[in-house]
Amino acid sequence: MTVLDGTLIRALRDAARVVALTGAGVSVESGVPTFRDKQTGLWERFDASELATPAAFIADPALVWGWYEWRRAIVLRAEPNAAHRALAELTDLVPQFTLVTQNVDDLHERAGSRNVLHLHGELAHPFCEICQRSYTHPEGIPDMPAEGARLEPPRCAGCGGRVRPGVVWFGESLPELIWTAAREVTRQCDVFLCCGTSAVVQPAASLATIAIEAGATTIQINAHPTTLDGSVGAAIRGPAGVVLPQLVSETWHVPAPAVHR
Ligand code: OAD
Repeated sequence: MTVLDGTLIRALRDAARVVALTGAGVSVESGVPTFRDKQTGLWERFDASELATPAAFIADPALVWGWYEWRRAIVLRAEPNAAHRALAELTDLVPQFTLVTQNVDDLHERAGSRNVLHLHGELAHPFCEICQRSYTHPEGIPDMPAEGARLEPPRCAGCGGRVRPGVVWFGESLPELIWTAAREVTRQCDVFLCCGTSAVVQPAASLATIAIEAGATTIQINAHPTTLDGSVGAAIRGPAGVVLPQLVSETWHVPAPAVHR
């Protein structure tokens, strides 16, 4: 069990405004692969960043739509883990808590988090690439072989355009209102938690810099080293599903939920 520094715990307990930024690392313990994990099956010969671009969708829409349906099938079969649940508890433990995520899954919401700011969009909200009309996925888990498959994207009921995944692709801007809100709460926070992100993708990673420059107590939780190690107030090394529940329990004396091995 990681020994958490008393100063951190006091800072968190006394904080009026807390922001948490999460990345793919918080969904790993739910079985959702991260972006920088080696791809498997049909996607093995692709780097995730090659598939997550407008150019890739134009070049091979069935490959890209298939990839995102494969990821959506994994997410629909997954359950929130102890990291998601601990972050959901912060909503009731901290006077003003804001959860900002780079994740396109809905595991934070399924764990009970509310008003999550999704910087990179959501798999659950695809839309027409022409008229932006939102598209509702059919009920159930997409029938997708484990190794993945090409899948023609559906057509928009309004204009017949191709439906695209509801995620932000490389080279695209973040949703403006959400990005503005994320920066604003980060500028004003007392404690900034940076959980399970490699902090390489901009502008999302710049939130940590904003928090550091604003003088917030900054705590990174990551299973591996990142570029932020030297600049955050505390870099706690360990799986988010272990460290976050421990942080909540040691800060607010809430018994840590059992960790399912
Ligand atoms: P990455 O895949 O870049 O990084 C995942 C991070 O999680 C790494 O730093 C791992 O060390 C860490 N990690 C892995 N397992 C963990 C665990 N059990 N507990 C804690 N940390 C763990 O994912 P992101 O940082 O989220 O953007 O990537 C950012 C963005 O890059 C994504 O949102 C996506 C991607 O391209 C877009 O698609 C626009």
